[in-house]
Amino acid sequence: MAVSLDGGSRMGTIAMTGGATGIGAAIRELLAEAGHRLIVVDIKAADINADLSTSAGREAALAGIQAEAGGGLDGFIACAGVSGSVPDKALIPSVNYFGAVNLLDGLRPLLALRRGSAVLISSNSAPMDTSQDYVELLLSGDEAAARELAERTEGHPLYSGSKQALARWMRRNTAAYAGQGIRLNAVAPGYTRTPMTESVANDPAYADAIKQFLASIPLQRAGEPEDIARAVRYLLSDDASFVCGSVLFVDGGHDAMLRPDTF
Ligand SMILES: NC(=O)c1ccc[n+]([C@@H]2O[C@H](COP(=O)([O-])OP(=O)(O)OC[C@H]3O[C@@H](n4cnc5c(N)ncnc54)[C@H](O)[C@@H]3O)[C@@H](O)[C@H]2O)c1
Repeated sequence: MAVSLDGGSRMGTIAMTGGATGIGAAIRELLAEAGHRLIVVDIKAADINADLSTSAGREAALAGIQAEAGGGLDGFIACAGVSGSVPDKALIPSVNYFGAVNLLDGLRPLLALRRGSAVLISSNSAPMDTSQDYVELLLSGDEAAARELAERTEGHPLYSGSKQALARWMRRNTAAYAGQGIRLNAVAPGYTRTPMTESVANDPAYADAIKQFLASIPLQRAGEPEDIARAVRYLLSDDASFVCGSVLFVDGGHDAMLRPDTF
């Protein structure tokens, strides 16, 4: 984005996925308040309604964004995602990973036109134990095999694996995108109060475990969607003009507490 005197950013055109609820809705509101033009893709309540779990949906999303932003994009945020508890586990690799990287790849020429910046919403679960076979399938782009493996794997490692692959994809592609002036970064939120976490928190089977989990966060609270949105706004802005290829943990200190010596 172009430099402005206050260190922030001039109004820009920003595309994003997952803007209907939760973290994405907070990002959409914060950026719209700052005067940016948002083009929102989601499966519901969006400028472009598209199902990012299918290649047809991703193509429709790309075509819609291209039609709206012919002059180029200043930013892109991949926020759409499903949790590890979703009944159809094949959605986890398809939405969380392919729905993000396929769109970003397709939007690369539009981002290059404006030397834009992209932020992928990963998770602080990304460094956790997962199947490396699964992560390698994602990184190799083999969606059919990743979906097939997902059908017979537990949801939670599938979720953390999808978020690990997303962060690794971002880092692997940082230099190539930077060569066109595009900054890539990721945000790794910790537990954040949204419809995604609410459904689990309200389940009596998990209520106690969630309470203990929240009590273990060093800052002693859950994240709010706005905490994550402010980090995204920063990464897109010119205040972050030399921040490139970073995974920014926004998790009240949880990752640092759990993995103090690994970064
Ligand atoms: N809430 C947390 O604690 C937490 C922690 C770490 C990372 N995240 C990540 O943050 C992002 C936002 O999650 P949230 O907590 O706001 O949840 P959410 O359920 O409120 O938001 C997810 C959004 O993705 C959209 N979406 C889901 N499937 C889609 C599909 N097939 N096609 C298009 N859009 C689809 C939903 O409609 C919704 O708007 C996700 O990527 C999630 O994995 C959340």
